[in-house]
Amino acid sequence: METILIVDDEKNYLVVLEALLGAEGYEIVTARDAKMAVSIIREADLDLVITDMKMPGMSGMELLETCKKIKPEIPVIMMTAFGTIEMAVEAMKKHAYDYIQKPFENEKLKLTVKKAMENHRLVKENRLLVEALSDRFRYGNMVGKSKPMAKVYDLIDKVSGSKASVLITGPSGTGKELIAKAIHYQGPRKKRPLISINCGALTETLLASELFGHEKGAFTGAVAMKKGRFELADGGTIFLDEVGEMPPALQVKLLRVLQEMELERVGGTRTIKVDVRVLSASNRNIKEDVAKGIFREDLYYRLNVIHIDAPSLQERTDDIPLLVKHFIEKFQDGDSKKKIELRPEVWKALYAHPWPGNVRELENVIERAMVLYTGGVITLDDLPKTLVDTETQFDVERFVPSHIPLPKAMEEIEERLVRRALAQSKNVQTHAAKNLGITKSLIQHKMKKYNITL
Ligand SMILES: Nc1ncnc2c1ncn2[C@@H]1O[C@H](COP(=O)(O)OP(=O)(O)OP(=O)(O)O)[C@@H](O)[C@H]1O
Ligand SMILES: [Mg+2]
Repeated sequence: METILIVDDEKNYLVVLEALLGAEGYEIVTARDAKMAVSIIREADLDLVITDMKMPGMSGMELLETCKKIKPEIPVIMMTAFGTIEMAVEAMKKHAYDYIQKPFENEKLKLTVKKAMENHRLVKENRLLVEALSDRFRYGNMVGKSKPMAKVYDLIDKVSGSKASVLITGPSGTGKELIAKAIHYQGPRKKRPLISINCGALTETLLASELFGHEKGAFTGAVAMKKGRFELADGGTIFLDEVGEMPPALQVKLLRVLQEMELERVGGTRTIKVDVRVLSASNRNIKEDVAKGIFREDLYYRLNVIHIDAPSLQERTDDIPLLVKHFIEKFQDGDSKKKIELRPEVWKALYAHPWPGNVRELENVIERAMVLYTGGVITLDDLPKTLVDTETQFDVERFVPSHIPLPKAMEEIEERLVRRALAQSKNVQTHAAKNLGITKSLIQHKMKKYNITL
């Protein structure tokens, strides 16, 4: 439903306009003065403002200017009883959509409003389209050719065409949000909005009002009606990030929206129908939370119709070179597409690092290196110390159980290093041997000793 804000100091006009345009199926919000109107413009999601020109205090012209500053995309129609043509011309120069003279003919007003709405819709849709194109969130934008990633792409392909709920899990920085975007922008809803909300970042009251919206006066500070994200996502997709953090009271409400596809705004009684595809993500184990009774089981099954697990970077070290190349290009200055090399010891450090922050951490490391490097080569000096340390310092506690005899411990370590070198060189023995600084025949001897088969 499209919403119109009507501003006039004369109550009669407000009543007449509200009745006239309300009957056309618009949702009407009114304000008696421009100051009130400004706070509504800030708060509410409006599709049109109709304002009187002459009002005590802030004038309609000033309101027009303010509105264009805070929400330039909302069309504004000016009304004037005292209108001289000059005033109207000035308003048009300040990007008013149109003006009407009081007293107005009902039909003419309705037509002007209808046209403004159509125009606004076009502008909005065009913007969504442009955003979709410029973001290019086809999974073509996701980098990685490893097996675990191929599995992810396959699932994205399978689910993007349907309306089924998808729960995306995986550790922090593994690209869960990218997966959600890929699903949305590859599916039939791509021209409609993808609306995200982080369920872990807000208090319960705020989260409820963000998700479901609120009516004017629903709580202190609710100066105007506000549409919730579910309403904004109508026809499109909502992405519930950190869904595992959702407080229990809201879990119940959310479940109802998912089941019935309808909701009431906070403080409201009117039932609003929505058509929304739900994607959610979590880096905590929601299944465990269900077992502990922190997360509702019925909601979990609703969200988790399809499950996509984003692999950690450690599970797909094969993708490190591709990702590095991708991020180098991303952070390379404008036109300079010079080739940049990484020293072999830098590659080694990148492979050896456990990457607790996953792709995001790798991205940050490359961004930093792109600032520091000189002469077309990235060296160990350009990496953060933590990365260099994993390579040079040997963490005995992590590698070897305590209380075992030294020769046995040395063998433990040797076996692990050989296995790691082989994995990192994709089982090419000559490379693994070279990285370990030994001959090929020696690595084969060790492999036999430790029963390592390829
Ligand atoms: N496969 C990928 N290819 C290219 N860039 C990626 C890939 N995966 C993640 N990234 C980049 O890594 C960063 C983190 O990704 P994203 O925000 O999607 O992770 P997340 O799983 O949602 O993390 P969190 O749980 O912390 O919210 C982003 O800048 C994203 O562009
Ligand atoms: Mg995220």
